[in-house]
Amino acid sequence: MLRTLTLLLSLMAVALALASGCSTRDTTAEQTQRTQIPSQYKLRANPFGPLDRKALAEGQQLYELRCLVCHGEDGKGKGFGAPDLNVPPADLTNVEKYGNLTDGEWFYLISQGNPLRQMPAWRRFLGEDDIWRLVLYVRQFSRKT
Ligand code: HEC
Repeated sequence: MLRTLTLLLSLMAVALALASGCSTRDTTAEQTQRTQIPSQYKLRANPFGPLDRKALAEGQQLYELRCLVCHGEDGKGKGFGAPDLNVPPADLTNVEKYGNLTDGEWFYLISQGNPLRQMPAWRRFLGEDDIWRLVLYVRQFSRKT
């Protein structure tokens, strides 16, 4: 019991440290601009291939569990929770904005999020593999063909 409590407390400390680290780093510029993606993410390869149906199905499940509430079933940003936010969730079907992103760039956007603008930083809650599975699923929303 005591061990569980200690573990819980240290987890909370980590979460707090992450949260405060984030708020000091975020600047006004970051709040008003679209997230800049560092170039080294561009070529990061997805460990799951585009034809991996199992990973895609798992990505869909993750999306429904974690993202649908804000981004909506069709990815247009009209989830049932969206009206309660101050920032409209991104329309992930926007081909101009998202159609040319690589898997690595998607990975970055989802991992980092923008907590000050109500997009959670998913790296705090999900493992890398799950984020890569999500990438397979969400990139379909803005596929050009
Ligand atoms: C609590 C609501 C909420 C949830 C849940 C949520 N998002 Fe978001 N998301 C947002 C908002 C709000 C924005 C727009 C932020 C902005 O304009 O700066 C956003 C933006 C994004 C963007 C665009 C980032 C950019 O810079 O253009 C992507 C990609 C994204 N979300 C993917 C996801 C994925 C994948 C999930 C699930 C793992 C998810 N979101 C869950 C609210 C949410």
